[in-house]
Amino acid sequence: LHGLSPDRPLAGRSALVTAGPTHEPIDPVRYIANRSSGTQGYAIAEALAAAGADVTLVSGPTTLPDPAGVHTVRVETAREMLDACRHALPCDIAVCTAAVADWHVAPAAQKIKKTADAAPPALQLAPNPDILAMLSQPGPTRPELVIGFAAETEHVLAHATAKRERKGCDWIVANDVSPGTGVMGGTENEVILITAAGREHWPRLDKAQVAHRLVARIVTFLQTPHP
Ligand code: CTP
Ligand code: CA
Repeated sequence: LHGLSPDRPLAGRSALVTAGPTHEPIDPVRYIANRSSGTQGYAIAEALAAAGADVTLVSGPTTLPDPAGVHTVRVETAREMLDACRHALPCDIAVCTAAVADWHVAPAAQKIKKTADAAPPALQLAPNPDILAMLSQPGPTRPELVIGFAAETEHVLAHATAKRERKGCDWIVANDVSPGTGVMGGTENEVILITAAGREHWPRLDKAQVAHRLVARIVTFLQTPHP
Protein backbone atom coordinates (compact mmCIF):
# COMPACT_ATOMS: atom_id res chain seq x y z
CA LEU A 1 0.00 0.00 0.00
CA HIS A 2 1.29 3.39 -1.02
CA GLY A 3 0.91 6.89 0.29
CA LEU A 4 -0.19 6.12 3.81
CA SER A 5 2.45 8.22 5.53
CA PRO A 6 1.98 11.95 5.02
CA ASP A 7 5.67 12.78 5.52
CA ARG A 8 6.92 9.88 3.35
CA PRO A 9 4.20 9.73 0.68
CA LEU A 10 6.45 7.88 -1.79
CA ALA A 11 7.42 5.07 0.62
CA GLY A 12 7.33 1.80 -1.29
CA ARG A 13 7.79 3.58 -4.62
CA SER A 14 10.92 3.46 -6.77
CA ALA A 15 12.30 6.24 -8.93
CA LEU A 16 14.98 6.63 -11.58
CA VAL A 17 16.55 10.04 -12.23
CA THR A 18 19.07 10.84 -14.96
CA ALA A 19 21.24 13.91 -14.48
CA GLY A 20 24.29 15.77 -15.68
CA PRO A 21 25.84 15.72 -19.12
CA THR A 22 27.22 12.74 -20.97
CA HIS A 23 30.77 12.80 -22.30
CA GLU A 24 31.40 11.19 -25.66
CA PRO A 25 35.12 10.60 -26.17
CA ILE A 26 36.83 11.74 -29.36
CA ASP A 27 40.20 10.39 -28.26
CA PRO A 28 41.75 9.69 -24.83
CA VAL A 29 41.93 13.43 -23.99
CA ARG A 30 38.95 15.02 -25.77
CA TYR A 31 35.19 14.65 -25.66
CA ILE A 32 31.86 16.07 -26.90
CA ALA A 33 29.43 17.18 -24.20
CA ASN A 34 26.41 19.34 -23.42
CA ARG A 35 26.45 22.04 -20.78
CA SER A 36 24.89 20.72 -17.57
CA SER A 37 25.83 21.09 -13.93
CA GLY A 38 23.46 18.33 -12.79
CA THR A 39 22.04 20.58 -10.05
CA GLN A 40 18.36 20.29 -10.99
CA GLY A 41 18.49 16.50 -11.40
CA TYR A 42 20.36 15.96 -8.13
CA ALA A 43 17.82 18.17 -6.34
CA ILE A 44 14.96 16.07 -7.76
CA ALA A 45 16.68 12.82 -6.71
CA GLU A 46 17.09 14.22 -3.17
CA ALA A 47 13.50 15.43 -3.01
CA LEU A 48 12.16 12.05 -4.18
CA ALA A 49 14.27 10.29 -1.55
CA ALA A 50 13.10 12.73 1.12
CA ALA A 51 9.53 11.80 0.17
CA GLY A 52 10.38 8.15 0.87
CA ALA A 53 11.08 6.84 -2.64
CA ASP A 54 13.82 4.31 -3.35
CA VAL A 55 15.89 6.42 -5.79
CA THR A 56 18.51 5.47 -8.36
CA LEU A 57 20.37 8.48 -9.77
CA VAL A 58 22.18 7.75 -13.02
CA SER A 59 24.59 10.62 -13.40
CA GLY A 60 26.99 11.73 -16.09
CA PRO A 61 30.20 13.49 -15.03
CA THR A 62 29.49 16.30 -12.55
CA THR A 63 31.35 17.99 -9.71
CA LEU A 64 28.45 17.37 -7.29
CA PRO A 65 28.73 14.90 -4.39
CA ASP A 66 26.47 11.81 -4.39
CA PRO A 67 23.21 12.87 -2.70
CA ALA A 68 22.58 11.27 0.69
CA GLY A 69 20.08 8.42 0.75
CA VAL A 70 20.20 7.93 -3.03
CA HIS A 71 21.79 5.08 -4.99
CA THR A 72 24.06 6.96 -7.41
CA VAL A 73 25.46 5.28 -10.51
CA ARG A 74 28.17 7.23 -12.34
CA VAL A 75 28.45 6.89 -16.11
CA GLU A 76 30.27 8.73 -18.85
CA THR A 77 28.59 8.15 -22.22
CA ALA A 78 24.95 8.06 -23.38
CA ARG A 79 25.24 4.36 -24.13
CA GLU A 80 26.47 3.70 -20.57
CA MET A 81 23.61 5.85 -19.24
CA LEU A 82 21.10 3.79 -21.23
CA ASP A 83 22.54 0.53 -19.83
CA ALA A 84 22.43 1.84 -16.26
CA CYS A 85 18.82 2.98 -16.73
CA ARG A 86 17.80 -0.42 -18.12
CA HIS A 87 19.31 -2.00 -15.00
CA ALA A 88 17.23 0.30 -12.80
CA LEU A 89 13.97 -0.99 -14.28
CA PRO A 90 11.30 -1.72 -13.27
CA CYS A 91 10.52 1.48 -11.39
CA ASP A 92 7.43 3.59 -10.75
CA ILE A 93 8.74 7.03 -11.67
CA ALA A 94 11.39 8.13 -14.19
CA VAL A 95 12.67 11.70 -14.39
CA CYS A 96 15.11 12.41 -17.23
CA THR A 97 16.99 15.62 -16.55
CA ALA A 98 20.27 14.58 -18.17
CA ALA A 99 21.68 16.66 -21.00
CA VAL A 100 22.50 13.64 -23.10
CA ALA A 101 24.84 14.19 -26.04
CA ASP A 102 22.88 13.53 -29.21
CA TRP A 103 25.82 12.00 -31.03
CA HIS A 104 28.98 10.04 -30.41
CA VAL A 105 32.03 9.31 -32.54
CA ALA A 106 34.17 6.21 -32.84
CA PRO A 107 37.01 7.40 -30.59
CA ALA A 108 40.63 7.28 -31.77
CA ALA A 109 42.81 4.97 -29.66
CA GLN A 110 45.57 7.57 -29.40
CA LYS A 111 45.51 11.33 -28.97
CA ILE A 112 44.82 12.91 -32.36
CA LYS A 113 47.79 15.12 -33.24
CA LYS A 114 47.34 18.47 -34.92
CA THR A 115 49.57 18.53 -37.92
CA ALA A 116 50.31 22.02 -39.18
CA ASP A 117 50.01 21.20 -42.86
CA ALA A 118 47.03 18.79 -42.64
CA ALA A 119 43.35 19.75 -42.64
CA PRO A 120 41.58 19.59 -39.22
CA PRO A 121 40.11 16.14 -38.55
CA ALA A 122 36.43 15.65 -39.43
CA LEU A 123 34.22 14.04 -36.78
CA GLN A 124 31.97 11.25 -38.02
CA LEU A 125 28.93 11.60 -35.76
CA ALA A 126 26.61 8.68 -35.09
CA PRO A 127 23.31 9.09 -33.18
CA ASN A 128 23.06 8.16 -29.50
CA PRO A 129 20.14 6.19 -28.07
CA ASP A 130 17.25 8.28 -26.73
CA ILE A 131 16.88 7.20 -23.10
CA LEU A 132 13.67 9.14 -22.42
CA ALA A 133 12.03 7.68 -25.54
CA MET A 134 13.16 4.19 -24.49
CA LEU A 135 11.70 4.61 -20.99
CA SER A 136 8.44 5.97 -22.45
CA GLN A 137 7.83 3.01 -24.74
CA PRO A 138 4.71 1.06 -23.77
CA GLY A 139 5.51 -2.30 -22.20
CA PRO A 140 5.61 -4.23 -18.94
CA THR A 141 8.48 -2.20 -17.47
CA ARG A 142 7.22 1.24 -18.49
CA PRO A 143 7.18 3.43 -15.36
CA GLU A 144 3.76 4.69 -14.32
CA LEU A 145 5.00 8.26 -14.72
CA VAL A 146 7.75 9.31 -17.14
CA ILE A 147 8.94 12.92 -17.02
CA GLY A 148 11.29 14.60 -19.47
CA PHE A 149 12.98 17.98 -19.48
CA ALA A 150 13.25 20.33 -22.43
CA ALA A 151 15.85 23.06 -22.27
CA GLU A 152 15.18 25.33 -25.22
CA THR A 153 16.65 28.58 -26.47
CA GLU A 154 13.66 29.65 -28.63
CA HIS A 155 10.00 28.71 -29.26
CA VAL A 156 10.07 27.04 -25.84
CA LEU A 157 6.40 26.01 -25.65
CA ALA A 158 6.15 24.78 -29.24
CA HIS A 159 9.35 22.78 -29.06
CA ALA A 160 8.59 21.32 -25.63
CA THR A 161 5.02 20.37 -26.54
CA ALA A 162 6.22 18.65 -29.71
CA LYS A 163 8.93 16.89 -27.68
CA ARG A 164 6.35 15.45 -25.27
CA GLU A 165 4.43 13.95 -28.20
CA ARG A 166 7.53 12.68 -29.98
CA LYS A 167 9.08 10.99 -26.96
CA GLY A 168 5.84 9.55 -25.56
CA CYS A 169 6.54 10.75 -22.01
CA ASP A 170 3.76 11.88 -19.68
CA TRP A 171 5.10 15.27 -18.63
CA ILE A 172 7.69 17.67 -19.93
CA VAL A 173 9.33 20.28 -17.74
CA ALA A 174 10.30 23.04 -20.17
CA ASN A 175 12.63 25.92 -19.59
CA ASP A 176 14.18 28.76 -21.51
CA VAL A 177 17.96 28.51 -21.30
CA SER A 178 18.76 31.27 -23.76
CA PRO A 179 21.67 33.50 -22.73
CA GLY A 180 20.32 36.33 -20.61
CA THR A 181 17.91 34.18 -18.59
CA GLY A 182 20.86 33.26 -16.36
CA VAL A 183 19.31 29.85 -15.72
CA MET A 184 22.08 27.73 -17.25
CA GLY A 185 24.55 26.80 -14.52
CA GLY A 186 22.69 28.95 -12.00
CA THR A 187 20.89 28.13 -8.77
CA GLU A 188 17.40 29.09 -9.98
CA ASN A 189 15.06 27.78 -12.63
CA GLU A 190 11.89 29.04 -14.28
CA VAL A 191 9.88 26.22 -15.82
CA ILE A 192 6.63 25.37 -17.56
CA LEU A 193 5.12 21.99 -16.65
CA ILE A 194 3.41 20.44 -19.68
CA THR A 195 1.04 17.53 -19.00
CA ALA A 196 -1.83 15.91 -20.93
CA ALA A 197 -4.13 18.36 -19.16
CA GLY A 198 -2.33 21.49 -20.24
CA ARG A 199 0.48 23.67 -19.01
CA GLU A 200 1.46 25.54 -15.87
CA HIS A 201 3.93 28.39 -15.70
CA TRP A 202 5.83 28.24 -12.41
CA PRO A 203 7.54 31.32 -11.01
CA ARG A 204 11.32 31.59 -10.91
CA LEU A 205 12.35 29.39 -8.00
CA ASP A 206 15.44 27.95 -6.42
CA LYS A 207 16.23 24.60 -8.10
CA ALA A 208 15.54 22.81 -4.79
CA GLN A 209 12.09 24.44 -4.69
CA VAL A 210 11.40 23.38 -8.28
CA ALA A 211 12.33 19.84 -7.20
CA HIS A 212 9.99 19.91 -4.19
CA ARG A 213 7.12 21.29 -6.23
CA LEU A 214 7.64 18.63 -8.89
CA VAL A 215 7.71 15.88 -6.27
CA ALA A 216 4.48 17.25 -4.75
CA ARG A 217 2.89 17.02 -8.21
CA ILE A 218 4.21 13.47 -8.62
CA VAL A 219 2.68 12.46 -5.27
CA THR A 220 -0.72 13.90 -6.24
CA PHE A 221 -0.57 12.19 -9.64
CA LEU A 222 0.22 8.78 -8.17
CA GLN A 223 -2.54 9.12 -5.55
CA THR A 224 -5.15 10.04 -8.18
CA PRO A 225 -6.69 7.27 -10.29
CA HIS A 226 -5.62 7.57 -13.95
CA PRO A 227 -6.20 5.34 -16.98
N1 CTP B 1 17.04 12.67 -23.66
C1 CTP B 1 17.44 11.37 -23.43
N2 CTP B 1 18.30 10.76 -24.29
C2 CTP B 1 18.77 11.40 -25.36
C3 CTP B 1 18.39 12.74 -25.61
C4 CTP B 1 17.52 13.34 -24.73
O1 CTP B 1 17.00 10.78 -22.44
N3 CTP B 1 19.62 10.78 -26.19
C5 CTP B 1 16.08 13.31 -22.75
C6 CTP B 1 16.65 14.42 -21.91
O2 CTP B 1 17.13 13.91 -20.68
C7 CTP B 1 15.43 15.31 -21.72
C8 CTP B 1 14.64 15.12 -23.00
O3 CTP B 1 15.08 13.89 -23.54
O4 CTP B 1 14.62 14.84 -20.67
C9 CTP B 1 14.77 16.20 -23.99
O5 CTP B 1 16.12 16.32 -24.38
P1 CTP B 1 16.48 17.26 -25.60
O6 CTP B 1 17.94 17.22 -25.86
O7 CTP B 1 15.83 18.59 -25.35
O8 CTP B 1 15.66 16.52 -26.76
P2 CTP B 1 16.10 16.04 -28.19
O9 CTP B 1 15.04 15.10 -28.65
O10 CTP B 1 17.49 15.52 -28.18
O11 CTP B 1 15.97 17.34 -29.08
P3 CTP B 1 17.01 18.53 -29.44
O12 CTP B 1 17.12 18.47 -30.92
O13 CTP B 1 16.31 19.78 -28.96
O14 CTP B 1 18.31 18.29 -28.74
CA1 CA C 1 19.32 16.71 -27.48
